[in-house]
Amino acid sequence: MARLGLIAALRPELAAVLDRLPDERRQVVAGRDYWLGHWHGHELVAVLSRVGKVAAATTATALIERFGVDRVVFTGAAGGLAPGVSVGDVVVASELLQHDMDASPLFPRYEVPLTGRARFTADAALSQALAEAARAVLANPADTLGPEAVAEFNLRAPCVHQGLIISGDRFVSTSAESVALRGALPDALAVEMEGAAVAQVCHDYGLPFAALRTVSDRADDTAHVDFTRFIDQVASRYSAAVLERYFSAL
Ligand code: ADE
Repeated sequence: MARLGLIAALRPELAAVLDRLPDERRQVVAGRDYWLGHWHGHELVAVLSRVGKVAAATTATALIERFGVDRVVFTGAAGGLAPGVSVGDVVVASELLQHDMDASPLFPRYEVPLTGRARFTADAALSQALAEAARAVLANPADTLGPEAVAEFNLRAPCVHQGLIISGDRFVSTSAESVALRGALPDALAVEMEGAAVAQVCHDYGLPFAALRTVSDRADDTAHVDFTRFIDQVASRYSAAVLERYFSAL
């Protein structure tokens, strides 16, 4: 039977999803809680990876080896990089790259040594289904978040973007670093700390992968704000609403 693996880095990012898994069973592997449950009759294993590429890769490997998932989705928050990628928007990855991978001069900058690639492609069908679900959710954000959160976070006309997400073991919180990343990787839409690692693991196992991130900050000097409150009130709820639509349409 089909079984989707769902990863988020931090508990608040998955809180609204876990609230909707009525029958979940918990199993601990390598210090992570894996919740096995059903959503609209479809099997799901949800897990928190913790932060960073190694933590995400460990988690994804166990998800595949121990829980037999046949596709993987990563969800959570990201910093917006490209102009027009605003707080409250959603980014669905079409490709993912590790911006801190640099084995030059042995291999070209960003290339993952011995794979021949810097960019790992997200599964087109899975990504498209999530992007469509996200567009439907963002068309009326107040239905998911309530009018207070829409006003508090100034979520006027949130958009769904599809393109490159970059990952690295750094929370990007200065304008200088954001400008440098945009200069080096002009097509990068958003930055986070796990997605490209999971994309690489899924590539190695030949499994479809998709990433869906809500933009929590602009990865610049203002990237402190009330991160936790934004995750609770916006990102976690968007993730749950998008997945709800995705599963109900399967
Ligand atoms: N996740 C959310 N915002 C981020 C940022 N600015 N840098 C890295 N990961 C993030």
